[in-house]
Amino acid sequence: MRAVRFHEYGDEEVLRVDETDRPEAAGHDVVVEVAGAGVNPVDTYFREGSYEPFQLPMIPGVDVAGEVVAVSEYVDDYAVGDHVVGTGLGMNHFGGYAEYAAVPEDRLAHLPDGVDLVAAGGAGVAAVTAWRALVDHAGLEPAESVLIHGGSGGVGHAAVQLAAATGAHVVTTAAPEYHDRLTELGADAVFDYADDDLADAVVAETDGVDVVLDHRLDDYLQFDAEVAATGGRVVGIGENDPEVGFSNDGVARSKDVSYQFMSMFNTPRLADPLAGVAYLMGQGDLEIEVARTYDLDEAAAAQVDVMNDSFLGKLVITP
Ligand SMILES: NC(=O)c1ccc[n+]([C@@H]2O[C@H](COP(=O)([O-])OP(=O)(O)OC[C@H]3O[C@@H](n4cnc5c(N)ncnc54)[C@H](OP(=O)(O)O)[C@@H]3O)[C@@H](O)[C@H]2O)c1
Repeated sequence: MRAVRFHEYGDEEVLRVDETDRPEAAGHDVVVEVAGAGVNPVDTYFREGSYEPFQLPMIPGVDVAGEVVAVSEYVDDYAVGDHVVGTGLGMNHFGGYAEYAAVPEDRLAHLPDGVDLVAAGGAGVAAVTAWRALVDHAGLEPAESVLIHGGSGGVGHAAVQLAAATGAHVVTTAAPEYHDRLTELGADAVFDYADDDLADAVVAETDGVDVVLDHRLDDYLQFDAEVAATGGRVVGIGENDPEVGFSNDGVARSKDVSYQFMSMFNTPRLADPLAGVAYLMGQGDLEIEVARTYDLDEAAAAQVDVMNDSFLGKLVITP
């Protein structure tokens, strides 16, 4: 089969398309013919060597969706022909940038009929992270308000829809060109993240926000405390500069604000939130927007674009 691989760590130039063996359904694996493989910022961190994968050469890509073509004898819940979505690959298991991927059954969920396989390929990291942050860590409730920084991003646009599905009052930030679409996806208020009076606008909209999903802690750690309600919960998933700090932690203390930092890779069983994500996709409550698709030969461009370009939703490789 054709697969993107990196034989050494480095910039996007280390990605190349190789002819390699199609994976077999060993252990508790299900082999999927890949229709879509989401491109995520973390794919670039693996490629750069920030986290060491289990072996080189390595097939990148955490996410996958497609049709099942082979099933291990130890797997009962999947059969050839099923449509599935998976995530959590790319570090201790070969990834999704390939014609076929072997996915452990505990990182997989069935897709309801009618769910687009390419869009589902972009769901894994984005939607499972949003689910873990809002549902599992923050315990977002229907009568609460939530601020999602960067609602046009992969995680952001999934989080807006998940939060809206709970019934919560959803406030998000994005560049102006994405405001209308984010309103259609369920946001109650959308602000430009570049506005000088962003904090005032969020507080005026929510009277202090109950839950914050923050993917740029270096920009917003202090801001989150300023806009939080008493007892607010902030879930941090990322930053550009790891030297994050408060300029005044008293604001957070005075409101009993909780901070929870998380990695999707710590999810005890990825199949559980994935099943919820797949269900919402089947109900039409979660649409993964595919901003652009790429061939395997274009994987390097896709990884450059995911870090540098502006888009709403996900970039997806279609082998
Ligand atoms: N901890 C975890 O488990 C976990 C899981 C997934 C992702 N992450 C991390 O979370 C971050 C986002 O991931 P992603 O896949 O959603 O990336 P993405 O699709 O590239 O989205 C990033 C978003 O941030 C927006 N943005 C840029 N400047 C901003 C600002 N000043 N304020 C608010 N938003 C701004 C971008 O909007 P524009 O297009 O307008 O620039 C874009 O929509 C990455 O750092 C990633 O590594 C962590």
